[in-house]
Amino acid sequence: MHIVVTGGTSGIGAAVVRELSQNGHHVSFIGRNSERGQALAAETGGHFIQADLSSLRATHQVASQFQEPIDSLILCAGGIGSKPTPLVTSEGFETLFATNYLSKFSLSQQLLPLLSANASLVMVSGNGRYKNASTAWQRIEKGFRAALKAGLALDLYARQLAKNQPTLRIHTCYPGMVRTNLFKHMALPVRVVVNLFGQSPAQASSYFTQLVNQPHEGVHWHKTTPMRLQLPPAADDLARELWNYSHNILAKYS
Ligand SMILES: NC(=O)c1ccc[n+]([C@@H]2O[C@H](COP(=O)([O-])OP(=O)(O)OC[C@H]3O[C@@H](n4cnc5c(N)ncnc54)[C@H](OP(=O)(O)O)[C@@H]3O)[C@@H](O)[C@H]2O)c1
Repeated sequence: MHIVVTGGTSGIGAAVVRELSQNGHHVSFIGRNSERGQALAAETGGHFIQADLSSLRATHQVASQFQEPIDSLILCAGGIGSKPTPLVTSEGFETLFATNYLSKFSLSQQLLPLLSANASLVMVSGNGRYKNASTAWQRIEKGFRAALKAGLALDLYARQLAKNQPTLRIHTCYPGMVRTNLFKHMALPVRVVVNLFGQSPAQASSYFTQLVNQPHEGVHWHKTTPMRLQLPPAADDLARELWNYSHNILAKYS
């Protein structure tokens, strides 16, 4: 199978690249860090593409590099809301919203025509508790609120896409706490807890690959269990509004 993975240069995504390559799949993977990307390509035989996916222009360029059919798309690139002041991309979007949500929307929408029948799309997600998340899509949020809004947007997108594309296998997966570089700039107590209680990236990888390898009912998963989302009111209306907002953005950068 030809499988495309984002966030393949570190953590969960890198473990997914390793596992899939060991199982004989042809893996193309995307990340920012060239050194780590090239080292993993040499180790696994995968094809590394260097790109900053917080940029919609760069994401569009990445999507246009693919021409051959894709059997699975696994979107793991992302960050966490640890900064007290918001970071804004050169295109004017809050960085986490751009990386954790917009890049996944943009890449998957542009690659849809290449996805083979019954292909799977698996996207790393948050814990599904979004009752108090902001739904002001254009507003620049900071810290944890930024991550929460991006997580809600991603889960609403997956929900809507699964309705629109019933032949594809669309999933989000919340892996729980995983020992990765995600926490490397956090306070010492956080890093200690993650090191003591976090799962290995290889363990997290298995949650993603099982969604790729076998058919599963339901869109949202917590590890290997179906997950029920806690959504704000009028979620269907929100999902449609977000869909239109995101497509307008995509049209601007395509
Ligand atoms: N670890 C956990 O406990 C946990 C739990 C739930 C959800 N998640 C989510 O899982 C995702 C992956 O996290 P991780 O734990 O694997 O962290 P990680 O080790 O820091 O890996 C993050 C990956 O995303 C890539 N990435 C980040 N920003 C990017 C950008 N602008 N453009 C291209 N690639 C970008 C990184 O690329 P470079 O390294 O090359 O920059 C790296 O490959 C994140 O969205 C995180 O929120 C993690």
